[in-house]
Amino acid sequence: MCGIVGYIGKRDVAPLLLEGLQRLEYRGYDSAGVVITSPKTPGLKMVKAKGRVRDLEARVPKRFAGTTGIAHTRWATHGAPSDENAHPHLDAENKVAVVHNGIIDNATDLRAKLVADGVEFLSETDTEVLTHLIARSQAPTLEEKVREALRLVEGTYGIAVLHADFTDRIVVARNGSPVVLGIGEKEMFVASDVAALVSHTRQVVTLDDGEMATIKADDFRTYTTEGSRTTASPTTVEWEAESYDMGGHDTYMHKEISEQVDAVDRVLRGRIDDRFSTVHLGGLNLDAREARTIRRVKILGCGTSYHAGLIGAGLIEELARIPADAEPASEFRYRNAVVDPDTLYVAVSQSGETYDALAAVQELKRKGARVLGVVNVVGSAIARETDGGVYVHAGPEVCVVSTKCFTNTVVAFALLALHLGRIRDLSVADGKRLIAGLRKLPDQIAEVLQQEGEIKKLAEEYAGAQSMMFIGRVRGYPVALEASLKLKEISYIHAEAYPASELKHGPLALIEPALPTVAIVPDDDLLEKNRAALEEIKARSGRILAVAHQEQEKADHTIVVPKNETELDPILMGIPLQLFAYHTALAMGRDIDKPRNLAKSVTVE
Ligand code: G6P
Repeated sequence: MCGIVGYIGKRDVAPLLLEGLQRLEYRGYDSAGVVITSPKTPGLKMVKAKGRVRDLEARVPKRFAGTTGIAHTRWATHGAPSDENAHPHLDAENKVAVVHNGIIDNATDLRAKLVADGVEFLSETDTEVLTHLIARSQAPTLEEKVREALRLVEGTYGIAVLHADFTDRIVVARNGSPVVLGIGEKEMFVASDVAALVSHTRQVVTLDDGEMATIKADDFRTYTTEGSRTTASPTTVEWEAESYDMGGHDTYMHKEISEQVDAVDRVLRGRIDDRFSTVHLGGLNLDAREARTIRRVKILGCGTSYHAGLIGAGLIEELARIPADAEPASEFRYRNAVVDPDTLYVAVSQSGETYDALAAVQELKRKGARVLGVVNVVGSAIARETDGGVYVHAGPEVCVVSTKCFTNTVVAFALLALHLGRIRDLSVADGKRLIAGLRKLPDQIAEVLQQEGEIKKLAEEYAGAQSMMFIGRVRGYPVALEASLKLKEISYIHAEAYPASELKHGPLALIEPALPTVAIVPDDDLLEKNRAALEEIKARSGRILAVAHQEQEKADHTIVVPKNETELDPILMGIPLQLFAYHTALAMGRDIDKPRNLAKSVTVE
């Protein structure tokens, strides 16, 4: 969703900001804009455009020099995508420019008051309210003007403010939407996502909610919205700038699917403890005694992360024998759920920013619950708000739809389940068996990826379908859910996922030659049951693509994946279906990395 990037230093700012915006493109947006200034020529110069960053770039005039600026990619909330609604927003005198991520909840009331006072609005956005409030403040410093304005607004924001009378600084503030400062050599950056910074600096400071900062070329300071100084401790971003590049692949999705061998290796690295046949999870902050008191585990996440959570709940229940379930965080936060002190809550999120998941965490914390995070982005909001957790170490994921992070998250859950299991009743022998299984995963993933050629052919064959059914049983069901989500997200083919056991209770009515079924058929205790479901489909002349450990006689096609320990089977069975969704979408000519209507991080309600 919306992205912010800003710079203050000696370099020509426009190209830097455009490059930063390009780095944020993956988040999803519909318009972009940039405003610049410099101490030598203090006025504000602004360009905005509906569409892509390249449309904005095309509009930037030849003479557009400056050394300080802020820029934005917008995802429409208040007002349709248009040049006018794109950020930055300026006041009538072109003194104040604001870029904003988040939503101002009381914007309508504030706008009405400002209009009654004679202010003319140029856009339909909530953000413009902030611009006028800052511009009208009589406070002597930019920091105080911003503070006064923020006191009047309710809602979430990450903002960056530029003022024609204070060209030596950019003032930023955070409440619910990330703001990260990047520290350079006599230059400073600001962004809503480290992706926009890492090619320039890896020294960053992440602001907390309720924090503001002033950045100058050679200096910065942080303080609360009330004005008291805070201590900023810079950290080093682990991710290399190159890991955001396409690396010779045609799409980020393809690159990220291909990276899974290394990614899984990374999530395992340094965590296996052969001596006690268990795993170490340093950031969990949950000692053995506490772990033994957990009576339930509740996992919360959205989209693909929710599906990873479903598999995680299965693993925890199976290995640790603790009742566990997963629920969309977006539902949980609105249903006034009973918060139980003996339940361990786990929030799952690639970005660590998804607003629904973050809001669920905040509600749980407020009610005194213990919440862990299973998160990819280090230092993200959910990672910071939770009591401890497991980083999934998938590396940056740029494609809107999640692939490698899904797989790594499931592996992280396997580690958590094994850890909890070995504290409780999982035997040494089972611990050893699962550790051996985990160690096999990278090579087995490589084997699955080698089948890409055949999977591509299959995808091209099925690409004409109007709709597809995905089925799986128990461990296979979340795999079916995720595979169906992947297909609909990037190919726009309608897809449904059902437990195979439920076929006969309704969806069997849909089965006919035009509706292919993708069936997850592992060699486990349910193999015969799954085969019976295939029989039922075949009897109705349905086409079947099976993902299995051996050729399935009733299926028209089978993708055979290597067998691991039964509990770990879902990890491998999902991967060929990522490739299947990818090649289906490719055959249909879709914009795979930027599917319509979707954003990488949904940071608003
Ligand atoms: C968005 C994305 C999904 C993603 C979900 C959760 O809806 O389009 O691909 O699974 O957010 O994201 P998170 O960063 O919390 O895992």
